[in-house]
Amino acid sequence: QLSVLHKFKGILFSTASSRELLDSLDSFDAREDDVFLVSYPKSGTHWVAEVIENIPNAKITITTPIELGDISKFDELKTYSKRRVIPTHLSYDMLPVDIKQKQCKVIYIIRNPKDTAVSLFHYYRDNPNLPYIETWAAFLELFLRGDVVYGSWFDHVLSWEEHKNDNVLIIFYEEMKKDFFKSLKKITTFLGMHVNDSEINNIAWKTSFSEMKNKTVKESHDPNHTICALTSERNLVFRKGVVGDWINYFTSKQKRVFDELFTEKMKHSELARRLKEYS
Ligand code: A3P
Repeated sequence: QLSVLHKFKGILFSTASSRELLDSLDSFDAREDDVFLVSYPKSGTHWVAEVIENIPNAKITITTPIELGDISKFDELKTYSKRRVIPTHLSYDMLPVDIKQKQCKVIYIIRNPKDTAVSLFHYYRDNPNLPYIETWAAFLELFLRGDVVYGSWFDHVLSWEEHKNDNVLIIFYEEMKKDFFKSLKKITTFLGMHVNDSEINNIAWKTSFSEMKNKTVKESHDPNHTICALTSERNLVFRKGVVGDWINYFTSKQKRVFDELFTEKMKHSELARRLKEYS
């Protein structure tokens, strides 16, 4: 069952991300106006993608993840004539070099790691493209060791935080929940787009959890248009969509172990301070 994942440079990837593609990421030609939608898995990527897609006259195309597929990927990405919004779960170090050189815009979505872990646990269980892990306790150990798909949450966040001044907009899942309008404003301003009040209300409605979930149940989705490299089945994505579900999973000992590691790993992190307010 473990064969659904493979290791590349010490990090676990889905076999849907071929070694050849991962090996050739640095040959990707970025465009100056590309936007990258970056996150650790289960941080709210589909939500933010849906928000961007619903901005009127955005004139963008959301592509499949840059790390999904085989070597033909870069030819596929060349075919888009509109401004590309390209999702990825890559950490900063693996990001193709041309994106860094051209200083393309990046939206980095972050979510408190306890909820992220719980969400990823369910994804592991429900998603046939990920190994089945028997218990929450066993999964949490893997998560804390970074022995899960896309590696350690801590390393991922730290790699991006280090580059937060390189044209990176950081969006918090919890802030989107608490003050959607504020987050939406940040996104549109960052992308140089404008929305009026009625458009804002419409976007908020269309991208609510219930609306996105219902739409996914009712409408079939083109599996070639997935925005997550880990599944083409969109209905696996909409589970609960709340803040603080971790409390239903962590024992007090697990919480203590988690918090100790968090404090140690994130001691120089400003983002960590923001996240603490949310967890
Ligand atoms: P849960 O498993 O906690 O419910 P990603 O898109 O990065 O894979 O993240 C998936 C997580 O975002 C899931 O979390 C999912 O329910 C949540 N999510 C998706 N759409 C959402 C929305 N419109 N509002 C709130 N949460 C949403």
